[in-house]
Amino acid sequence: MEFQPKILALVCTYCTYTAADMAGSARMQYPATVRIVKYLCTGRIDLIHILKAFEAGADAVMVSGCEAGSCHFLEGNLRARERVEYAQKLLAEVGLGGRLEMFEVAASDAPKWVAAVKEMTQRVEALGPSPLRRGRHLHPEVVEQLENMVQS
Ligand code: FES
Repeated sequence: MEFQPKILALVCTYCTYTAADMAGSARMQYPATVRIVKYLCTGRIDLIHILKAFEAGADAVMVSGCEAGSCHFLEGNLRARERVEYAQKLLAEVGLGGRLEMFEVAASDAPKWVAAVKEMTQRVEALGPSPLRRGRHLHPEVVEQLENMVQS
């Protein structure tokens, strides 16, 4: 059966989510590989959320927030970048290297969001399925646990 990448995108509602929404409204063509989990700010994304996304069977995880200097909570995106870099090191040690990336997408930049999704999809196609993948779909209960973590 053909491999269809599954990507979880943990995104800031102010910037990237708006861009993704705009890309959808404008019917821009991009792979249907991404499921979005929305945050008030990427500064609220914890390491445990990233690990939960992989536990859900994601082949890759994208973190995407406001551009440098544009975070509505001043430095949330900088904190997120530090956490992502730390998580990248941990993931590399357990055989999940290359499967986590951080992006910055302004609210008006739908094409950049589309490009980011394409980039991650191509990367996952080259890497193949995550060793933690469970079947063709993301595990719904684990995704729900992640969404509950975001709201708490
Ligand atoms: Fe968008 Fe902080 S408000 S990253």
